[in-house]
Amino acid sequence: MSINIAIDGPAGAGKSTIAKALSRELGFIYVDTGAMYRAMGLFLQAKGASQDDEKTISELAEKCSIDIKYENGQQRVIEGGVDVTDKLRSEDAGKWASATSRFGAVRAKLTQLQKDLAARENVVMDGRDIGSAVLPGAQLKIYLTASEEARGKRRYDELVTKGETADLDQIIADIAARDHADMTREISPLVQAEDAILVDTSDMSIEQVVEHCLGLCREKGIA
Ligand code: DC
Repeated sequence: MSINIAIDGPAGAGKSTIAKALSRELGFIYVDTGAMYRAMGLFLQAKGASQDDEKTISELAEKCSIDIKYENGQQRVIEGGVDVTDKLRSEDAGKWASATSRFGAVRAKLTQLQKDLAARENVVMDGRDIGSAVLPGAQLKIYLTASEEARGKRRYDELVTKGETADLDQIIADIAARDHADMTREISPLVQAEDAILVDTSDMSIEQVVEHCLGLCREKGIA
């Protein structure tokens, strides 16, 4: 049986950084489920769907073919046979992912893909509903969070380092809006699963969070 670690939490909590580091340490595959929702969102946008038109979105989601593969240990997302990975980190992709991930047809399609993968491989999978809906039987569930201010500041620093201009208040407002959308949608909203361990990273460095999570793995007999 494969070993599954679920990491959930709000946007900007550091899930992907921590999940990547853990998967490297453990020799597991890292599965970024947000990237799948982003690829689906961009596909729906390109097809001219309106974000509120559930009927059209459901029909299109049925036809959308998303797959993932690994190159040098890095996840690549393939949509319609084309590698779209490099387009997925844009704000636009994030907004389309958040808006369209509330529909049942979109979630059903991607959830199945995620379950199949985790049944075959040892994975560290991150997202919003991994511990609560995708992998309810995961051996370890972590709910990673940080204050809106801490998450906003990290994103701000990231943009400034890249030489981009950024408005901290606007970033924090965008984070709050995304949290609200992800936590209040009807199907599989972002919640801390009952058996998930809460890790608040507001005042922790990346190294401290990784070490803490590795400790949780050891307690479960995983590392
Ligand atoms: O983690 P991320 O920012 O790449 O995710 C983008 C959006 O995708 C997020 O706002 C909500 C949606 N998502 C989801 O509904 N369920 C997941 N398991 C992962 C992401």
